[in-house]
Amino acid sequence: MTTIGIIGSGNIGSNVARAAVEHEYEVLIANSRGPETLQDLVRDLGKSASAATVEEVIRKSDMVLVAIPLKAIDDLPVEPFEDKVVMDANNYYPERDGRIEALDHNESTTSELLQARLPYSHVVKAFNNIYAKQIPTDGLPKGDQNRRALPIAGDVPHAKAAVAGFLDDLGFDVLDLGHLSGSWRVERDTPAYGKRATLEELKELTRDVERVQQV
Ligand SMILES: NC(=O)c1ccc[n+]([C@@H]2O[C@H](COP(=O)([O-])OP(=O)(O)OC[C@H]3O[C@@H](n4cnc5c(N)ncnc54)[C@H](OP(=O)(O)O)[C@@H]3O)[C@@H](O)[C@H]2O)c1
Repeated sequence: MTTIGIIGSGNIGSNVARAAVEHEYEVLIANSRGPETLQDLVRDLGKSASAATVEEVIRKSDMVLVAIPLKAIDDLPVEPFEDKVVMDANNYYPERDGRIEALDHNESTTSELLQARLPYSHVVKAFNNIYAKQIPTDGLPKGDQNRRALPIAGDVPHAKAAVAGFLDDLGFDVLDLGHLSGSWRVERDTPAYGKRATLEELKELTRDVERVQQV
């Protein structure tokens, strides 16, 4: 059985965990305060979920979701992420994360910052443009004409294929936006951000997007 590691047990982390256990994945989850603070959550998630330390989650999982505020990514340990497929749900909110010059000047994307922090991993943008609560509820069977599509972006094909397979299992079509550098097309304040859209609609929403200067 595939184990999804989740760093962060807030809105995104707990809802991806819920969707994953419902689709027969094992979940290992961590937060900043330690596994003992996650006992209620894992009890609620059921027997396929357990809590662990951040390091254990990374080492014991097949794929790892980073679902912590962007400002905290420098706290992540680097070495345990070697060769791991990492899903990046981050969005940039300066009022929460502080000003990040490279993002303010459109010189980078949130996912490229995470990739730079975790250079031996394979980062794939995922789950950043869906409201957390919709993750366990919006999935539909393959072929349903109303099936929602979620965007991904990444630089490593096998990592993108693994993430696409996970999203498909959770009930979503997938739009591949290309490299991590193109993930700004679904970052905050873009037309696709937070929109429930089918694959064709998402293609349209991400086609002729103008990159807005943040400052
Ligand atoms: N909320 C949404 O609907 C949504 C949708 C798409 C994308 N996002 C993005 O996803 C990211 C997470 O958002 P969220 O709403 O899930 O945040 P949240 O509800 O505030 O949860 C953040 C989680 O990160 C954990 N954390 C913080 N620093 C950590 C560290 N150094 N090591 C381990 N865990 C750490 C926190 O642990 P403690 O509980 O111990 O403090 C908490 O469990 C953000 O970039 C956000 O913009 C959010």
